Amino acid sequence: MNWKKIRTVLLTALFLSLIPVTRYYQIDQPILRSLEGRRPLNPVELHLAGEFVESNLGTEIDSNGSVTLRMLAQQYLFIPHCVLIPAGVPVHLRITSADAVHSFAIEGTGYNVKVLPGTVSQTQLQFPDAGVYKTACREFCGAGHYAMRSVVKVVPREQFPALRPEERGNCAAE
Ligand code: CUA
Repeated sequence: MNWKKIRTVLLTALFLSLIPVTRYYQIDQPILRSLEGRRPLNPVELHLAGEFVESNLGTEIDSNGSVTLRMLAQQYLFIPHCVLIPAGVPVHLRITSADAVHSFAIEGTGYNVKVLPGTVSQTQLQFPDAGVYKTACREFCGAGHYAMRSVVKVVPREQFPALRPEERGNCAAE
């Protein structure tokens, strides 16, 4: 084997090793969840109890001032269908699936989060300015895949705390 081949093999190995790293860094692994003594997420019971009950979905300002956005993906919608988040601050997204594998992509941005049943995918979103973004599912998940869309509305930071929790969750303020 000459050096050129060795270099090609090494670069390929390096490239392939990046795929699991970028894919899984944001996923709350079930094995870690059980090692930490937390109950596994059961996709069919999400609406009954726990973090992803309907009343807990949407954007929330935590006691320490940080912003968390909780969402649910299911065939063939994102819940809430429209969410409001503040501009200029990091928003901690936590999203899980009630059925198939989906992907939550915010169009016009680099955000594309794979969503799996039984695990929580998380990432940090940040938008410098107010605006309206369309989102789409980018993982083929069945007959209604191409209609699986929603909206993220980024509102000025100072406007956000004035919104009632139910307005933050479903864009009812509009
Ligand atoms: Cu959900 Cu495609």
